[in-house]
Amino acid sequence: MLERVADTVSASNISLWLGGEGELKCEARIGPTAPTAAQVRALLTARTSSASGLIVVRLDAAHNSLGALVLMPTIVLTPDQRSFLATVADILAPVLRQAAYAQRLETEVLERTKQIDRERRVTERIIDSLPVGLYVIDRDYRISVWNRKRETGMQGVSREEAIGRTIFEILHRQPATVLRREFDEVFATGRLQIFQMESMASGELRTFRISKIPMRLDDGPVTHVITVGEDVTEWRSANDRFSQAEKLAAIGTLAAGIMHEINNPLATIAACAESLELSYENSPPEILDGLRLIQSEVQRCKGITDSLLDFSRPKAGAKALVNVNDAIERTLYVLKHHTRFKKLGVHLDLDRTIGNVVRANSEQLMQVFMSLLINAMDAMQDLGTVTLRTRWGDNLRTVIAEITDQGEGIRRADLPKIFEPFFTTKPPGRGTGLGLSICYAIVAEHDGRIEVDSAPGEGSVFRIILPRADETEERT
Ligand SMILES: Nc1ncnc2c1ncn2[C@@H]1O[C@H](COP(=O)(O)OP(=O)(O)OP(=O)(O)O)[C@@H](O)[C@H]1O
Ligand SMILES: [Mg+2]
Repeated sequence: MLERVADTVSASNISLWLGGEGELKCEARIGPTAPTAAQVRALLTARTSSASGLIVVRLDAAHNSLGALVLMPTIVLTPDQRSFLATVADILAPVLRQAAYAQRLETEVLERTKQIDRERRVTERIIDSLPVGLYVIDRDYRISVWNRKRETGMQGVSREEAIGRTIFEILHRQPATVLRREFDEVFATGRLQIFQMESMASGELRTFRISKIPMRLDDGPVTHVITVGEDVTEWRSANDRFSQAEKLAAIGTLAAGIMHEINNPLATIAACAESLELSYENSPPEILDGLRLIQSEVQRCKGITDSLLDFSRPKAGAKALVNVNDAIERTLYVLKHHTRFKKLGVHLDLDRTIGNVVRANSEQLMQVFMSLLINAMDAMQDLGTVTLRTRWGDNLRTVIAEITDQGEGIRRADLPKIFEPFFTTKPPGRGTGLGLSICYAIVAEHDGRIEVDSAPGEGSVFRIILPRADETEERT
């Protein structure tokens, strides 16, 4: 175009200037020299079409100035040539305006796309950084969002694989009918659903809190369901421990009250039986035998009430800095002579760097280990090996003693009950169900805690965790 103009009007230099007043720029030119922007601006403001050998043809479209065509003709222009220039300006201006408009639009679209992309990446990052598994399905049960957490782990599925497929093709752990019912409920009611689920997906039993959250793209019905799965195993076991501690404390208070009421009449019964026996020495043997039976049964009851009192209010026996390893070895020494215990294998794995670091009553500690070892022996039916292990815990802040047996293990349903007084699975006469409740109370009285890992057929691990006291003692 510029060449055509140059030819027609015999101009050696011709340049195209675009932009508003302040930002005039030479966009194209033919010829060795061109005026400066200031010169062009001056000519444009002066509204003159020529000066010092320059001809300025304004490019106006819709009353807006787009710039100018600046020529240096070698001849004086004829009227025809002038009108040609006017025609060129008339054709060029709207085209340039359109082009500028298109370019602005293109830049805007590009900018907006970048912004949307940035926002999408931020949203994706947020969803991926959440410490929960999250996915979103639409009305056709097709997955539209699948976060990083759902890609990891043993049952992880990659995002590429999941997006676009139906949830039933991806999740196989739950029957499709159950899954569909859960989603349909949220789609139909628009209400949030929360429930807990147990899973062995990671190889160990973990508890998840699943939330199914309805989502609407507009004001209409639910269009998507967001599913969030949060691992609440630790929270749940802390919660269980807390409610167990509360429950046992309540039982303890109740037991203490009852025992107090029973002990007095028991003492009266024993005293009466004894005085009757002394007063009627020459009575027939059945009467004397009956009186002695009363006394021995009272003794048995006394034994139980004493144990129960041990549970409800363990005596705070004299404490000193003791070595847990010693307490274990002394317990084993006592048990060495037990006929049934002798049949078991004993494996000792004691951390000898643990010294006198736990503030405890060593007799009570031995009582705990004794109870646990007898339970292990009962569970193994005198066959197998029991392992006693000690180690440091929590960055040397606690001492842990573990008793592991190869016995029958504990049913899941029984686990929350084993520390309750009188809970026993042993035949009548074999166990009173007080052993573990007393262990629990003693350990709690030592500011420690007792934990258990067990499953039927897999043996049990009882873990006693006691706070280290030597460092605190030194400081106080
Ligand atoms: N090592 C273990 N293996 C399997 N089950 C156990 C183990 N330890 C305890 N249990 C279960 O916990 C129950 C309660 O134990 P606990 O020591 O309190 O009472 P007990 O042993 O039955 O009776 P007691 O100790 O009063 O003689 C047991 O009856 C048993 O079912
Ligand atoms: Mg026991």
